[in-house]
Amino acid sequence: MTERQSIHGQWSSRLVFILAATGSAVGLGNIWKFPYITGEHGGGAFVIVYLLCIAVVGIPIMMAEIMLGRRGRQSPINTMADLSKEEGANGGWSLIGWSGVLAGFFILSYYSVIAGWALAYVVRAGAGTFTGVDAAGIQTIFNDLISDPERVLAWHTLFMLMSMFVVAKGVKAGLEKAVTYLMPALFVLLIVLVGYAMNTGYFVQGLEFLFTPDFNKLIYECEVVAGLEQCEISGSPVLVALGHAFFTLSLGMGAIMVYGSYMPKKTSIAGSAVLIAGLDTMVALVAGMAIFPIVFANGLEPGAGPGLIFQTLPIAFGAMPGGHFFGTLFFVLLVFAAWSSAISLIEPAVAWLVENRNMTRIRASVWIGLTTWVLGLGSVFSFNIWSGDEFKLFDRTFFDLLDYLAANIMLPLGGLLIAIFSGWIMKTAASQDEFAMRPAGYKFWWNLIRYFSPLAVIAVLVYANIPLIKGLKVLLTSSMISSQQVIGIV
Ligand code: PHE
Repeated sequence: MTERQSIHGQWSSRLVFILAATGSAVGLGNIWKFPYITGEHGGGAFVIVYLLCIAVVGIPIMMAEIMLGRRGRQSPINTMADLSKEEGANGGWSLIGWSGVLAGFFILSYYSVIAGWALAYVVRAGAGTFTGVDAAGIQTIFNDLISDPERVLAWHTLFMLMSMFVVAKGVKAGLEKAVTYLMPALFVLLIVLVGYAMNTGYFVQGLEFLFTPDFNKLIYECEVVAGLEQCEISGSPVLVALGHAFFTLSLGMGAIMVYGSYMPKKTSIAGSAVLIAGLDTMVALVAGMAIFPIVFANGLEPGAGPGLIFQTLPIAFGAMPGGHFFGTLFFVLLVFAAWSSAISLIEPAVAWLVENRNMTRIRASVWIGLTTWVLGLGSVFSFNIWSGDEFKLFDRTFFDLLDYLAANIMLPLGGLLIAIFSGWIMKTAASQDEFAMRPAGYKFWWNLIRYFSPLAVIAVLVYANIPLIKGLKVLLTSSMISSQQVIGIV
């Protein structure tokens, strides 16, 4: 087969690919989402499942996505259509690309709203709003922001315009350069924050929370109702950990595939994937180590939800010397981290519009950005005028629903299909040629992608959803007192 060429261009080197893919992976998922879902699901055990998912599901699937992208050299929709033709398989595999485009819309719509909060915090930190303010005051500042739909809408609009602008220009000219400098800076700043957290006197509690597993927390979800702790059997924490592994590595929706399609030939896919996943995991763990000591030092709630970092880190900035400067810098860098992820959420759809609808990049970016912006209104309102129970479905706001559906259902399903395609449909000669690995390494990947990764994803999806578990849930709730004794919570 003659090698395909991408009409969209190519990264200038392996390093640039690594930077772009790391820019996609490291984002709000690491600094905003990881701490708050870890807090909601009780810490240590959740973190262990998340790390396992990264190692045995995330890395092999990331390798598969890069490999498919580089072989197809087009938008994920067309790449999958072409590769399935090449393998004599059903053209329906392009569904992977379509569901990725949809997941990209869903994720970016709320991602942009949260990135908007971060933008707003750049201004607040810059104005010195946090200086000397206590935990309660910081909470008020946060609530004032999110309860005002007009302000949040304005920030969401600005962030969306920024993302559209970069994608319209093409990735190479703008963001790629910025990311080179900004990612290391963000990491250094997180370390500075960990330094502060060490001095809160609660660093050990923070570490214990993050790394001491209590496996009951993976099986039972508890809440306090009328002074009594009620627990239910639930597969949800394990599913959330798996979903987050996909989310944080940007897998299962074509972002890494499309970045792979711009990757030069003759660069190591396996080495790149391990490096990207390692950097991404490190940022998340360091963020956790900075945030939880501050949570415990100030008597805050680890399960406070999506506002967690916005209610903890400003306390540190308000109290530390130079906090005015560091605080502003931190939120600027957070915006950059979000920005370099946002563009990869739109790129698969834009690439397809350019390929199949003959659009210019500018036109395509405007269309995709506009549609996503409208969908984002639902998340803007989820924290104010639509936060009431009458606007909830399955006890979730619009924002929660989109996040749950995209991250915990669509990305794992997309990843499952990618694993099945590259392990069972694609001939080994093809994948072997693309990877150019030593036989032992290839064999290892091949076993993971053929058996282990798909089975793990299926097991978690089934475990979190089987009616048996739902039935048990009902049983437990109706005999709550005895169930509490069984699991020794009272
Ligand atoms: N990985 C990004 C983050 O952690 C989010 C993302 C998901 C980006 C899916 C692209 C695709 O913030």
